[in-house]
Amino acid sequence: MADPVRLAIVGAGGIAQSHLKGYKMLKDAGYERFQITAVCDVNAENAAATAEGIEKNFGGARPRVFAQVGEMIEAGVVDGADLCLPHAYHHTLGGECLRGGIHVLIEKPVGITIKATHKLIEARGERDLVIAGAEQVRRGLPSRAIHWAVRERGMIGEPRFFTQEVFSFNPLDRSTYKFGWRALKTMGGGGMLVDAGVHFSDMVQYVFGPVETAICTMRTIDETIINIPDVPPQPVDVEDYWIASMIFESGLTGHWSWSQHAPGRKLSTRMYYGSEGCLADRQEWMHPFQFGADLIRKDGSELSYEEIEKQYLDSLSQDEKDQLFPYGITDPFAIECWDFVEAISQPREPEFGPEEALRAKALCFALYESSELGGQPVSVEDVRLGKVGSYQEPINEYWKI
Ligand SMILES: NC(=O)c1ccc[n+]([C@@H]2O[C@H](COP(=O)([O-])OP(=O)(O)OC[C@H]3O[C@@H](n4cnc5c(N)ncnc54)[C@H](O)[C@@H]3O)[C@@H](O)[C@H]2O)c1
Repeated sequence: MADPVRLAIVGAGGIAQSHLKGYKMLKDAGYERFQITAVCDVNAENAAATAEGIEKNFGGARPRVFAQVGEMIEAGVVDGADLCLPHAYHHTLGGECLRGGIHVLIEKPVGITIKATHKLIEARGERDLVIAGAEQVRRGLPSRAIHWAVRERGMIGEPRFFTQEVFSFNPLDRSTYKFGWRALKTMGGGGMLVDAGVHFSDMVQYVFGPVETAICTMRTIDETIINIPDVPPQPVDVEDYWIASMIFESGLTGHWSWSQHAPGRKLSTRMYYGSEGCLADRQEWMHPFQFGADLIRKDGSELSYEEIEKQYLDSLSQDEKDQLFPYGITDPFAIECWDFVEAISQPREPEFGPEEALRAKALCFALYESSELGGQPVSVEDVRLGKVGSYQEPINEYWKI
């Protein structure tokens, strides 16, 4: 494809602004293969403010503003769309873009259910178009360094068990649009487990390999009535906590629990143990290793994350660095935006496509399916293949997927 690739930001809310910071880093570094020519959002204020910001920060003409994806496709000013939308619209508007001949970068979890991701693949059909997933966590320098430390260098020996438990009392403000749509299965597919949790699911499998069996229980505590466009008013129906276990194909066992409805005292534990030592994860939220982890060996000696990172970078050739951290940029959003533009213009496969997205979300949905079955063990592969899916069925029915 001739440069520059003409891009649209579709959905100009919270995360779109992080993508735009990434595009700006690329522009400032001298990357000229793209131009942002359109912004599309049903919220006219968000669309206008974002278009104005792009004009100010990137120079050149102000991007065209659209309220509807159909009008944007019709205008013929876009080659690739960066979709930063509520989960319910990933497959509908993503599918519309693909059918209109437009490449897509779609925020996680790339479709509201497993079937919704397949709908996107179907919408592409035989067209030579990129479907990329905006999964930034695994692309950050610390994540790549820990992946190398565990898989290439065997720094903890054979991984055996881990625990990530994060409990706090910090209920979300469900009166806002951004936390309102996240409160309903029909809009989000689930709550935090498939929202931020899909980063966890991708990272643990990226570092430790596929999960075979998932076991989980969860519950809704919040009773707020949600009133947002496109769906009837209804009470919160997504999980406010979950207690989960997972068994990996390798035999590794993991424990993962979370709640923002845990009053009294906070708990935050994130430890990964192997035969030779452990990794103490530095992050305090749901994205394993995004700020690195310190190694503590069984003899008590330690290797700080900074030392692991230095060893990792020293192990890379210049060519590898250019592919993993283009222009020396380590911001994970900038890297995913660069990867999307490169996948279109070279052309080549993106680093994170629909198959990777399916693997990440299959673990999340296996945990929902297990809870739906009263905490019974569920095969992640059965969920990925659509053989188990009673939790997702009402969502698929609602959107006629
Ligand atoms: N990668 C990350 O770390 C990360 C972090 C936050 C959110 N996300 C993901 O980004 C996506 C969006 O989340 P957000 O926090 O930015 O949500 P948000 O609510 O802040 O923004 C969504 C935007 O989409 C717009 N929108 C809604 N319906 C539309 C339609 N039919 N056509 C056009 N625009 C429409 C809304 O008006 C809003 O501006 C989700 O997939 C979410 O999971 C990713």
